[in-house]
Amino acid sequence: MKRIVLILSVLLPTFCLAQQVYHIIPQPKQIVYGEGAFHLPKHWTPSKAKWLKDPTMADEAYRLSVTERDVTISASTQRGLFYGQQTLRQMVNQSDSQSLRCLNISDEPRFAYRGLMLDVVRYFIPKDEVLRIIDIAAQLKLNNLHLHLTDDNGWRMEIKKYPKLTQIGAWRVERNTLFPNRENPREGEPTPIGGFYTQKELRDIVAYAKKRHVRVIPEIEMPAHSVAAIASYPEMTCPVMGNRFIGVLPGIGGKDASIIYCAGNERVYSFLQDILDEVMSVFPSEYIHLGGDEAEKSHWKACPLCQNLMRQQGIADEEQLQGWFMDRMIRYLNAKGRKAMGWDEVTLGRPKEDITIFGWQGLGQAAVRDARETGRKFILTPARKLYLIRYQGPQWFEPYTYFGNNTLHDVYSYEPVGNDWTPQMEQQLQGIQASLWTEFCQSAADVEYLLFPRLIALADNAWRARGSGQWPAFLEALDAFLPHLEEQGMGYARSMYNISHVVTPADCVGEFRSPILLCRGKLVTELACERPDVEIRYTVNGDEPTDTSPLYCQPVTTEPGITLKAATFRDGRQQGQTLILPLVDNKATGCSILKDTSTNGLALRLTNGLHGSLRHSDFEWAGWYATDADFVVDLGSPTPIHSVTLGAIANANMTVALPREVCVYGSSDGEQFTLLGSKTLDETDIFAREATRKDIVIPLVGADSTTGLPESLPEQTSPTADKVRHIRVQALHPSNIPDGFIRGGQSPWMYFDEVIVE
Ligand code: ACM
Ligand code: ZN
Repeated sequence: MKRIVLILSVLLPTFCLAQQVYHIIPQPKQIVYGEGAFHLPKHWTPSKAKWLKDPTMADEAYRLSVTERDVTISASTQRGLFYGQQTLRQMVNQSDSQSLRCLNISDEPRFAYRGLMLDVVRYFIPKDEVLRIIDIAAQLKLNNLHLHLTDDNGWRMEIKKYPKLTQIGAWRVERNTLFPNRENPREGEPTPIGGFYTQKELRDIVAYAKKRHVRVIPEIEMPAHSVAAIASYPEMTCPVMGNRFIGVLPGIGGKDASIIYCAGNERVYSFLQDILDEVMSVFPSEYIHLGGDEAEKSHWKACPLCQNLMRQQGIADEEQLQGWFMDRMIRYLNAKGRKAMGWDEVTLGRPKEDITIFGWQGLGQAAVRDARETGRKFILTPARKLYLIRYQGPQWFEPYTYFGNNTLHDVYSYEPVGNDWTPQMEQQLQGIQASLWTEFCQSAADVEYLLFPRLIALADNAWRARGSGQWPAFLEALDAFLPHLEEQGMGYARSMYNISHVVTPADCVGEFRSPILLCRGKLVTELACERPDVEIRYTVNGDEPTDTSPLYCQPVTTEPGITLKAATFRDGRQQGQTLILPLVDNKATGCSILKDTSTNGLALRLTNGLHGSLRHSDFEWAGWYATDADFVVDLGSPTPIHSVTLGAIANANMTVALPREVCVYGSSDGEQFTLLGSKTLDETDIFAREATRKDIVIPLVGADSTTGLPESLPEQTSPTADKVRHIRVQALHPSNIPDGFIRGGQSPWMYFDEVIVE
């Protein structure tokens, strides 16, 4: 027996070697395995591979050949050689023996532009961290780092001619609260938060990136997102506010975000040109990004200088004025041998000069439309797919951030080219970019958490051949890559292992059904994990799930009043966090809602027994935008009821408010409704500044007749309402968010997570 084990252990390495399959990210175009292996000499590194110069090959293409005798990389450029070395490096990392399997790899990228944007304004990312990110980006064959250097919240580049840009503009007040809740600064407050890169430090970043074949594209925002510059040099904005104090904004800024450069003041152009001169002296990039997004033009409308310029130049409106402004700056860059880039709003002003557009709003449609009409080049970094500020997994497990989800799979599977595109438009598309906005980052660890692993998926997407992605194979490659990310000290999120859930009244799954309930009260829970290579195991008795708990194979139907717990497992070990769903029971739980009038289409969440979190975007909240909420719950049969409670959330800084009044009506036939009670809410509750849950309890009066409204409603509790089958809830929209709030003047959403009927 012993001898057999010995023989096997001698044979095993060779046997394994023959089976070695490499998992490379980004996925190479073609790998053909051969027989045999190349034995790695001691201290061998990928830089020792022989470089065969093949001038017929494209700039970034490489061929990697491993034979028993040697390892060679064919490429026409240093860049191609570098990419071959990156592939080789991953192969060496995956070789548990001292050999490489013989093979031939033939590889080149799909897109010429493979980008990452770092917002170094909202969170000032230390230089060393930027270098570490460049290291990983280069290993993933990304080739552009777009640095968002200026914004309302800070100016991050030393400009020698205008020292106040960093003396004043790089620093903001401290506000120990989330970005959307931060109040604007007051004159004289200390400004301890911020920082900037010296020109020497930026040159170091550029040189470090260049060595790794990454181009650094600086972005200097104009005409908006410029409050930090204007706080430093207030004369650069329109003279419409008198001498009002303007400080670097710590948060959204509200109306102060509409403080922008004056287009009618010549000094603004010389100021920006001087700045661009220094930018160009530091950044050799052929492209300079001029921003151009989200320019609110109320000040231009009121400004005598801007209006005068428009008259003189025959400019029709303020949008065209931005076009004129951008054109002038583009010409300045062009005269210095550089080219311009800008966000997709730039297209609204119909610039005449050449500019590469970054499509960011929604799915990037504005850039696509513009490309179709004008033939301009563009890059896609759509917020709804590639903004890494968004949640990367089920929101209950994630740190607070903005908006909806962009998961690892979303980034991986994003296909930028539309079915209706012409080949010409495909040519105009330069590539894709992940953009990391850092409003919610407080540390380098927060940055890494949002970047990884999604940046790895982006890199694969930007490089691999169109239509060649295979999600399970990518996950294998990711699992091979992540330990080496960790070895380099880089953190990453494990959100891909967490479970998302949808809990729905059992009889209402799918279409809204007729109001005859077959299984009132039951709930169906659907669970999902974006990794198909894990098991979901669950319990419904309150126990912690283990690797022997029931395996989730199909939606689980349960009574309410239980707690469902679930977690993912692989090889017997728990992978993600434990999902806990307390499914509370009340007379409305599991009942249908007769018609979904909600704006976000989630009305069935109102009777699913589950409360939402403090994130109104977590898919547990039914939302109504700029309108009253009005819905009918069908209890299934005449039912005595004592109280109705509506679970709500307020968060005025995120444009979410409570209703001004909630009215509850009852009916036994679904046609004649009687007012059973109402509740008026206080202004302070309606517009709570930070995310606050509120159960709105509506006192009821008797409702056993259908004869119309009761004469008066008692303030406190009520006689029993009986024989109510249909409950109609009307939640009246409050006014707009009051002035004095960051988002003053905007129409709010109302969100409800549950109707509780006792
Ligand atoms: C942007 O997200 N405002 C470009
Ligand atoms: Zn002006």
